[in-house]
Amino acid sequence: LQNGLARTPPMGWNSWNFFACNINETVIKETADALISTGLANLGYTYVNIDDCWSKVTRDAKGQMVPDPKTFNSGIKALADYVHSKGLKLGIYSDAGKFTCQVRPGSIFHEKEDAMSFASWDVDYLKYDNCFNLGIEPKKRGVDDPALWAGKVGNSWRTTEDINDTWVSMTNIADLNDKWAAYAGPGGWNDPDMLEVGNGGMTYKEYRSHFSIWALIKAPLLIGCDIRNMTAETKEILSNQEVIAVNQDPLGVQGRKVHSNGTDGCQQVWAGPLSGNSLSVVLWNRCMQAATITAEWNVIGLEAGTSVSVRDLWQHEVVLNNAVASFSAQLDAHDCRMYVFTPQAALMGNVM
Ligand code: DGJ
Repeated sequence: LQNGLARTPPMGWNSWNFFACNINETVIKETADALISTGLANLGYTYVNIDDCWSKVTRDAKGQMVPDPKTFNSGIKALADYVHSKGLKLGIYSDAGKFTCQVRPGSIFHEKEDAMSFASWDVDYLKYDNCFNLGIEPKKRGVDDPALWAGKVGNSWRTTEDINDTWVSMTNIADLNDKWAAYAGPGGWNDPDMLEVGNGGMTYKEYRSHFSIWALIKAPLLIGCDIRNMTAETKEILSNQEVIAVNQDPLGVQGRKVHSNGTDGCQQVWAGPLSGNSLSVVLWNRCMQAATITAEWNVIGLEAGTSVSVRDLWQHEVVLNNAVASFSAQLDAHDCRMYVFTPQAALMGNVM
C-alpha cells in the first residue's frame, strides 16, 4: 500500500509467539521499557504489537469493542500514550470474521466503528486476521492468495500458515514464502510470520539461520520472544546491525533461494540485490551434517569475472577482498553464513 508507511519492512515485537493469550497491560509496558533498555528500539524495533486476546468477549451496549477489563483495565488509549511517550508505536489486532481465532469479537459488519475506535485510541498498526470469516471468500476482498491482492489494502500480508518454534516449521515457511518474492517491495511485504528467535525450540545456529533468512527475504522483523528475559545469545542475534541493514536496505528487493543441491536440496544459496550494486548472500546448510556450499557468480546474478569483496555479517569482517567466479564456505549442520558481496567497481565508485 503506497501510504507512505513501511518503505522498509516493519520492525518491532508482537505478543503472540511467546505469550499467546497470556497478555496484559503490564507485559506490554514492560516490553516497551525493555525495547528501550536493551537498545533494540535504537536498532529499529519500534512497533509494540498486541495480538489476539486483548478485547473483552462481548461488545458493549453501543456495539463498541472494549479492552478486557481484567487485563487491559486502563484501556488501549492509555497504553498507546505510554508507548508513544517512549518514542515507540502501538499495534493492535482484529479479525475479518465474526470472531478472532481465540473467539473474541471480530470486525465483520463493524469495520468502520472498529477502525474509528483504533484511530481514537491513537493506534499505529493493525494486524487483521481471518478466522471465523463466515465462509465469505477472501475473493470478495480480492482473490485467494493475499500476495495477489493485499498490497492494495495493507503494508504486509501473511503468505503461510502459522510458524512454530521448530526447525521444520521455520524451514518450510521460508520455502513457501519464496514464490511470492516478486510481490514484495517498498510499501508492501510478504510476511512469512513472526520471529521465533529466543523461544527455546531451536539451537543458536538454527535461530541465526532463521534471522538471517528473514532479513534477506525482507520479512517484517517482529520479535516473538520475551525480551524482558532474553539470553545474551538471543540479544546478539536480534541486535546484529549488519543483518538488520540488509533487511532495511532501501532497494527493498526480496532475496530468493537461487541454488540448492545435496540430499533433498539441503545445501542452499539464497541471494538478492542491495542498493549500490551490492548483493546479500546467505549460504545455508539445511543438511544433517557439515557441508561445503558454493555460491557461483552466474547463480547469484554476478557477471563472470567480477571481482568482489566479501564481508561476513556474523564475523563482522571482510573475509576476502577479491573473490572471482565463486565463493565457498564450510558450514556446520543447520548453520548459515551471511555476506554482503560488493563488486570492486562499486567499491571504487563509493570511494570516488
Ligand atoms: C492466527 C495468526 O496467524 C497468529 O499469528 C495469531 O495472530 C493467532 N491467529 C491469534 O489467534
